[in-house]
Amino acid sequence: MTILPQKGYTPTYLPKVQRYPRENGLYAKTKIEAFIRYCRSAENVFKGQKAIGKVRKIVHFEPFCGPGWNRTKDGVHTFEGTPLRAVKELHHYDVFIFNDYDKSIMDCLYSELVDLHLDQNPDVEVHLFVQDANQAVKDLDLVLPKRIDKAFPFMGSVIVDPEDLWFSWSSTNQLATKRLDLLEMVPTHIDLARNIKNPSAQNYVGNWLGEAPVSDSLDTVLAQYETKLKTIYKWVHGVSTNPLPEQEYIWVPGKYHLISASNCPNDVAKKIWTGEVRRTVKATRGVPLFEGLDA
Ligand SMILES: C[S@@+](CC[C@H](N)C(=O)[O-])C[C@H]1O[C@@H](n2cnc3c(N)ncnc32)[C@H](O)[C@@H]1O
Repeated sequence: MTILPQKGYTPTYLPKVQRYPRENGLYAKTKIEAFIRYCRSAENVFKGQKAIGKVRKIVHFEPFCGPGWNRTKDGVHTFEGTPLRAVKELHHYDVFIFNDYDKSIMDCLYSELVDLHLDQNPDVEVHLFVQDANQAVKDLDLVLPKRIDKAFPFMGSVIVDPEDLWFSWSSTNQLATKRLDLLEMVPTHIDLARNIKNPSAQNYVGNWLGEAPVSDSLDTVLAQYETKLKTIYKWVHGVSTNPLPEQEYIWVPGKYHLISASNCPNDVAKKIWTGEVRRTVKATRGVPLFEGLDA
């Protein structure tokens, strides 16, 4: 694994005592499991495409990556965040791209990555950006694999896990032009719920939604967002048909929504959510894929 800081980011290695986890509710653990399980299932499809020479590299992108670790307020539970889980568990991926707008948070993640000592495969690239998430989407082409032969240069996954609604619709639209499956967390219980009835926040909500909200009802606006995603992605599962397996989703009603979308013509998302890939994983591991989580 080769760590490649981008666009002037100069990493600082922090000793363990100076790194801090993100303070979070236990629901975040459920969310992280759902994200990573999706990527692990999708990886089975991606690596198949790579094996038959249709695609050259498998890519994972997180525009809101966090420091690598999470801890509950009471300090009882500490768990790894999506970027660390991704580099440790997605063994067939070739390129990881992480971004956070806070340098000290990125330094925490950088230090964790260094400590993993995953240098046995230097061909795996980990690109680190420190800037606004929307700018990171604009800069993706700087680091995405380029076409050099008949194969598609890349396919893969994007996890959008924001704190608020700063991920603009134009960024979502830009991702739709790439061969990347999108998993997006909509923080319904915080920003959307708080702002949907606030007339002075309509521009803010509209920036995320890409148009004015049609109503001040949370469910209606979520349905509006899902409908818009369907105009740019072929497969979208969100809100009512949620990518979270039912037993996980119902633990956090009203807390957040995960939406998966895909524009991959080989129907990666469809294969996963119709159970084709899920069944394979279940069979090979011999344990239920969606076993109980302790949230
Ligand atoms: C919910 S956390 C990500 C957690 C991570 N997925 C995990 O599993 O640990 C969101 C991160 O986005 C960063 N962030 C917030 N607004 C941002 C923005 N506009 N651009 C880039 N990063 C941002 C925050 O610093 C925070 O670390």
